Amino acid sequence: MRSINEDTITQAVIAAMAACDNPRLLTLMTSLVQHLHSFAREVALSEVEWEQAIGFLTEVGHITDDKRQEFILLSDTLGLSTLVTAQNNAKPCACTESTVFGPFFVEGAPELALGADIANGACGEPCFVSGQVRGLDGQPVANALIDVWQSDEEGHYDVQSPAPDGEHEHRARARLRTDDEGYFHFRSILAVPYPIPHDGPVGRMLEALGRHPWRPAHLHFMIVAPGYERLITHVFRNGCAYLDSDAVFGVRSTLVADWVRHDPGLAPDGTRSPVPFYTLRYDFVLNTAGAVEMHA
Ligand code: BEZ
Ligand code: FE
Repeated sequence: MRSINEDTITQAVIAAMAACDNPRLLTLMTSLVQHLHSFAREVALSEVEWEQAIGFLTEVGHITDDKRQEFILLSDTLGLSTLVTAQNNAKPCACTESTVFGPFFVEGAPELALGADIANGACGEPCFVSGQVRGLDGQPVANALIDVWQSDEEGHYDVQSPAPDGEHEHRARARLRTDDEGYFHFRSILAVPYPIPHDGPVGRMLEALGRHPWRPAHLHFMIVAPGYERLITHVFRNGCAYLDSDAVFGVRSTLVADWVRHDPGLAPDGTRSPVPFYTLRYDFVLNTAGAVEMHA
């Protein structure tokens, strides 16, 4: 222990953890130390670079609070969120694919009746969304709980601009339940591309790397039903810029769908829309809970 050098430091750190009685923690930390040290060796990390990295992570911590989660942005933009999502959500290919959760989900959104306008004042062109939730056997999933959330036409989620009294107001987000045939429908606003928050250290990192902060237009869904695996996913708008360069690597081709534009006239809810509106139809297929995915 007294003559630690460049060659012996990795084993010394690993040996220092020998008394750890949590085997999983030991596995994680041993591997993390090995990879961190290998990285430093491989790039011949300088002291200035090490200080810059510590400064960067410190800034990521300082800007993070209950509304702004810069660590999730960092994980998302480095592809770690997509990797962890993918390796923990393997399922039969007939199932709807999962993708990243993102930082803008809110627990306990109001449960609205099917057909409700979930925009609740969020600005944007009208959009009518419908679909069906089914199991792998093709059977409809009745009473599935659907959380849906999206940004407004300026690219802001409700949580990013709270009401003046500080109370959280749910806009362009809601919970709905599928009917007896597994169908759901609601009114909202057209999804648009938007940049992830980029006024902090992650934004500067993207700029330094010659990357943009934009995400293609999408709707977020989380669907929960007894007997099925929870599904966290997005539906992406076909034809949108950034489908091939999503800043957080969330796009899957099976999740891209057509938003159909309609001239002013009769809308799906039976009213006459004085302005153009859009419709989106997307069906979800849930994996059976407890199903074991066979890897080749
Ligand atoms: C989102 O789509 O809401 C999102 C996902 C990852 C990072 C930032 C935003
Ligand atoms: Fe989003």
